[in-house]
Amino acid sequence: MNNMLRTWIKDGLWAIVFAAVVAAVIRFVVGLGAGSGLNDATPWGMWIAFKLGFVALAGGGFTLAAVVYIFHLERFRPILRRAILMALLGYGSFIVSLIFDLGLPWHIYMPIISWQHHSVMFEIAWCVMLYFSVLVLEFSPVILEHPLFKHKFFQVILHGLHKAILPLVILGIVLSTLHQSSLGALFLIMPHRVHPLWYSPWLPYLFFTSAIAAGMMALVVEGFLVERWFKRGMHFDLLERLGAWVPLPLGLYLLLRLSDLFLRGVLPGALDGSWQSILFLTEILVCGILPIGLLAIKKVRESREGLLTSAILIIAGILSQRMSLSMFAMRQSTGLDYSPSLAETLIAFGIPAAALLIYLFFAENLALLGDEIPNPQATAKLRPLWMFSQDTPGRIIFARRSGLATFAIALILPAMLNLPISDTSANAVQPAIGWETLRIDGNQTGYIVDFPHVEHQERLTEQLGSKESACATCHHLNYPDDEATSCSQCHTDYYQPISIFNHTVHQKSLGGNVSCVECHETEHVRQSAAICQDCHETMTAQEGESVFNPFASSYKDALHRRCLNCHEQKAVELDKPELALCSTCHTYYESDQLQTNLP
Ligand code: HEC
Ligand code: HEC
Ligand code: HEC
Ligand code: HEC
Ligand code: HEC
Ligand code: HEC
Repeated sequence: MNNMLRTWIKDGLWAIVFAAVVAAVIRFVVGLGAGSGLNDATPWGMWIAFKLGFVALAGGGFTLAAVVYIFHLERFRPILRRAILMALLGYGSFIVSLIFDLGLPWHIYMPIISWQHHSVMFEIAWCVMLYFSVLVLEFSPVILEHPLFKHKFFQVILHGLHKAILPLVILGIVLSTLHQSSLGALFLIMPHRVHPLWYSPWLPYLFFTSAIAAGMMALVVEGFLVERWFKRGMHFDLLERLGAWVPLPLGLYLLLRLSDLFLRGVLPGALDGSWQSILFLTEILVCGILPIGLLAIKKVRESREGLLTSAILIIAGILSQRMSLSMFAMRQSTGLDYSPSLAETLIAFGIPAAALLIYLFFAENLALLGDEIPNPQATAKLRPLWMFSQDTPGRIIFARRSGLATFAIALILPAMLNLPISDTSANAVQPAIGWETLRIDGNQTGYIVDFPHVEHQERLTEQLGSKESACATCHHLNYPDDEATSCSQCHTDYYQPISIFNHTVHQKSLGGNVSCVECHETEHVRQSAAICQDCHETMTAQEGESVFNPFASSYKDALHRRCLNCHEQKAVELDKPELALCSTCHTYYESDQLQTNLP
């Protein structure tokens, strides 16, 4: 690789990072809803998919630490530092990208003080925090060995770190194991959302085994890249050994995954010809079984092309599993499509681009690839803060050369300032009304009713002549100043009727302690209290009752009666008897089993 090409690649990376910074500003100024394609219905998207990818690729860190320190395979030591740096950058990317998809990012410290033992997220947060700290400690000797830190003070720290390394490594392995598998556990709470070919109760084990494989192969690819860039530090013999061993974790992962699908009877779904089945088969056959076969052949494994191809295939397969799980094969509960906004995409790619630049910086200045520090005279004082002056930002600042980056500023900045906002605001402002189909599951049992909301709205608007009366057919009562309040806001209990009158809310909005007289003219008792209609015109008494009855029926009754009454009526009117059948609404998608279990 010549210098020209290196400069171009660095410029490109800087341009992406720069664009991502602008995108990040947009994300924080306009907020999560408007800045990204995410919404209440699809709260997980590209950022989560990338995060899972970062962590999978970081798996080499704990694998190699275990190999060197616990199994005492000393010959792998030359690539240990690289592996730890990869893990450090992988987890660092995870943490940075977390800040973007938290609704209130300044609450990121909350898991530290607010303990929530039952939450998988809680475990993940702690494992990430601790493991990241351990990685920083594991890696800091590499930094402290630099001549810049030759002062005695740093040497004492360095000495201490060398002593503490073994306990640190063990702690790191435990934490990272916990974390890899708890990321899988995260998906156990959503069996109905994840496509059956990707869902598995064994996801924690699948995540763990595949992270080992992905981490090992990431080291192989890294080795090839390092070799191209720096013309040293590849250690092909070690990479070839990794290639010889990777069928073990990878094979275990495939075995677990396939046998779970088989045992649960989902495997036939892999042959139904849908795009999901094709993706699944590619993941298993092309990116799993094929590379195992290739690596089993000594001649292929020992050739550069053979090893690199297998490594890339394996990584692609595991990244595809992670991304499918969290994005592609995630069933959207409302029929609303998720497509990432431009700002979201730039942030997603900006983070790994920054990680690559950091990697390059470390490799250029520290004893990362070999055992000695590259040109120690030049780095003895560590270049002044303008160490990047050779790099893209330096060139922009000193305007010595207008590189790709200037081009990026000119083109991307204005495009980004208006694109992402106008792109997604429709989702952010009115998430509900554009939804075609609502997925109703009031008691979260998985007995789902897919309700074609918009279809009903349109049909009724046509019949009744106005949108308002169409909505009122079902939305018979609303909160003050609201058009179509969700039924669940009043019919709050699934099985019991419940009063919608909230004394405290009323006292608060009517002025606290002075509010009493508004409703209790004489005594503070129920009997003499003002009637609801005095203030809420819409709350009129039903037929046969003297005052408005504030008891909303149970959620199930509310929906059942509203839906069924009309369907039974229309079944006769339109001569469509199927409208009144239970199965019209209770289709329980893709599962016969649930249908027969109907309580
Ligand atoms: C056939 C009955 C029906 C009609 C007609 C209807 N809706 Fe709904 N709507 C529902 C049901 C059921 C829900 C689910 C509420 C729940 O589970 O709490 C809902 C929910 C909503 C929600 C809240 C979605 C959410 O995020 O929870 C909005 C907003 C809404 N409807 C607007 C409208 C508007 C506007 C109209 C008229 C153009 C309308 N609806 C007509 C039955 C209806
Ligand atoms: C603002 C609060 C509120 C909202 C929102 C609301 N309801 Fe009600 N609902 C009530 C109350 C109070 C009653 C009982 C008094 C009455 O019948 O007016 C009731 C009664 C009913 C009944 C009659 C129950 C029976 O026993 O016959 C049905 C059916 C019903 N609601 C369906 C719905 C549906 C469907 C929605 C959503 C599209 C909805 N409600 C939204 C408060 C609400
Ligand atoms: C918006 C009208 C409203 C306001 C304002 C209001 N109340 Fe009430 N209050 C009611 C209604 C309606 C009931 C009966 C329903 C219930 O118990 O929830 C009630 C019930 C009560 C009861 C219980 C009586 C019983 O038989 O259980 C007491 C005590 C009471 N109110 C005191 C107060 C006091 C004190 C204030 C002022 C700080 C106040 N209320 C403000 C409407 C109101
Ligand atoms: C003295 C006037 C008054 C009376 C009487 C009154 N309300 Fe309200 N109600 C209000 C005000 C003011 C609000 C707050 C509106 C807002 O914040 O936008 C409110 C809000 C509400 C809300 C929505 C807020 C919530 O979270 O609860 C409901 C539901 C409601 N009232 C039901 C009732 C019922 C049922 C009765 C009769 C038992 C009643 N109200 C009697 C003035 C009144
Ligand atoms: C005002 C009358 C009315 C109400 C209320 C109503 N529906 Fe319908 N629904 C219809 C009509 C009419 C059709 C269309 C029949 C046709 O032409 O095929 C329909 C169609 C459907 C379909 C599609 C059936 C199919 O085979 O494509 C579903 C599902 C459905 N309704 C569910 C519900 C649910 C759930 C509710 C309550 C939240 C509800 N409906 C409330 C009148 C109503
Ligand atoms: C027009 C649509 C419609 C029809 C027809 C219908 N249901 Fe429902 N049903 C619903 C809706 C909507 C719910 C609420 C779903 C939820 O919140 O989980 C529901 C809930 C239920 C529940 C409670 C489910 C649970 O999760 O606990 C049962 C049981 C049920 N229906 C049985 C029946 C039976 C039996 C029939 C046939 C006689 C029938 N339904 C016909 C719409 C319908």
